[in-house]
Amino acid sequence: MKNDWLWWKDGVIYQIYPRSFMDGNGDGVGDLMGIISRMDYLADLGIDAIWLSPINPSPDADFGYDVADYLGIDSKYGDLALFDQLVSAAHGRGIRIVLDLVLNHTSEEHPWFIESRSSLHNDRRGWYIWRDGRDGGKKPPNDWQSVFGGGAWEYDERTGQYYYHMFTRQQPDLNWRNPQVYAEMMNVFRYWADRGVDGFRLDVFNNYFKDAQFRDNPTKPGIRPFDRQVHRYDTNQPEMMRVVADIRSVLDEYPERYVVGETFLANTKITASYSGPGKLHAAFDFYSLIKTPWNPGRYLNAIQHQDKELPVEAWPIYVLNNHDNRRITTRIRAGEDDEKLKVSAALLLTLRGTPFLYYGEEIGMRDIHVSRSEIQDPVGKRYWPIPVGRDGCRSPMQWTDEPYSGFSTVEPWLKLHPGYPDRNVESQSKNPNSLLNFYKSLLRLRRENNALRRGIFIPLNHDPQRVLAYMRQDNDSRILIALNFARRRSKLALGGDITRYDWDVLLTNKDRSQPLFQKGWLKLEGYEACILRQK
Ligand code: GLC
Repeated sequence: MKNDWLWWKDGVIYQIYPRSFMDGNGDGVGDLMGIISRMDYLADLGIDAIWLSPINPSPDADFGYDVADYLGIDSKYGDLALFDQLVSAAHGRGIRIVLDLVLNHTSEEHPWFIESRSSLHNDRRGWYIWRDGRDGGKKPPNDWQSVFGGGAWEYDERTGQYYYHMFTRQQPDLNWRNPQVYAEMMNVFRYWADRGVDGFRLDVFNNYFKDAQFRDNPTKPGIRPFDRQVHRYDTNQPEMMRVVADIRSVLDEYPERYVVGETFLANTKITASYSGPGKLHAAFDFYSLIKTPWNPGRYLNAIQHQDKELPVEAWPIYVLNNHDNRRITTRIRAGEDDEKLKVSAALLLTLRGTPFLYYGEEIGMRDIHVSRSEIQDPVGKRYWPIPVGRDGCRSPMQWTDEPYSGFSTVEPWLKLHPGYPDRNVESQSKNPNSLLNFYKSLLRLRRENNALRRGIFIPLNHDPQRVLAYMRQDNDSRILIALNFARRRSKLALGGDITRYDWDVLLTNKDRSQPLFQKGWLKLEGYEACILRQK
């Protein structure tokens, strides 16, 4: 390995939804002890960092994304001493820790909000966004909507004013224009960085500021009231540029710290504008893979579009799954077939940019189906029967075929996928052709080949419906990645010198007794993902 290795650039980051990864104390909810107990699994898988969805104290109106204390650990997960143990268990294996910071809003049970709503004259009144209603107070201050349904303003009887919330009404937005709030937020970064945390994922960071004049949003056609607005005034305000610069300079006081933003309601261009030197290290562009349909031409367009928009010094990131979206297995209707998932895994892990994995992706976990009474997610409850809830991708990790899948000894907080007795870590570990072992091989290849991590990305001729082929190249080596997105055998005319070079097959999910190149054609089996290195 070269000695310019930088964990967030060369490594792979694994997202854990702590409620669902591993229950260490037998209460049906995952926790820090559970994660510590699976640290060897993560090291063996070959990931380089863990991003933990929020573990701060929370009444769980939005499962941790409503924080009641930024500096503590929720007792259902453990405590600060256990968190320190987790950090050292991870660091001892060369794994970094990334925390999720939800700084756009707090829980309504945060002591700051309790004080703020107590009277018009409370010292913390200005920490949140309070406004008088229109028309003598009867109507909300403006037309802004909550993305989770309904208006974004909640009337508070006690003081006769409205407070603003982009998410549920239990998640009041902080007022980042208040200098005390701003300073407090910067201290949150310092507090955790001092404790040894390596990086941060910023929840909906581009929402911190709202229009100073609270203007109505323009309207457009759409289904839900929220979609019928152009979000000109409630997101992506120019003031955000100062915040990203300030966060970066706080983190630059420490060695090798990282910050990645979750951009909310932003296209690739806006997302790209937040990352680069003096800004965030990276920002999620969900259009690059998550929102792209199963089509090689569309994937290539999305990848190239992101590369074009990002400043040259910025570093892309790629993600197929997270806790807010249906898993790729469901999106592409994979059925029980894992071969298609090997193609998407090979894509994710051979692109130029940091890959993010989501727990269970490596064993191809499928979404669960929840009945009305089983819904946990506030979004699912609000919109029922429209199936937009996010419980499907949050089911407990499938470790073994034992009762409760080895996740817990009691009934878990959310039901398990009924297929867990077959699809689990234990069974896939034993099967050399499993998806899990394919992920492990890809992770190993990425670690061993600088060209896969840092090399330039050279798209080759492609068949927009079926095959994607590209090269990753550095000064020492050339790696060719050929992905067949179709069930049938496919061939692609490559031409040029490529077919004349000699190649070693580094990895494929299919039988490769036949040569890959025949008379200038690249020939792939159905759903083949093949990685080759020039001899
Ligand atoms: C982000 C999180 C999501 C949460 C929301 C509000 O989009 O990823 O899970 O509900 O922010 O905090």
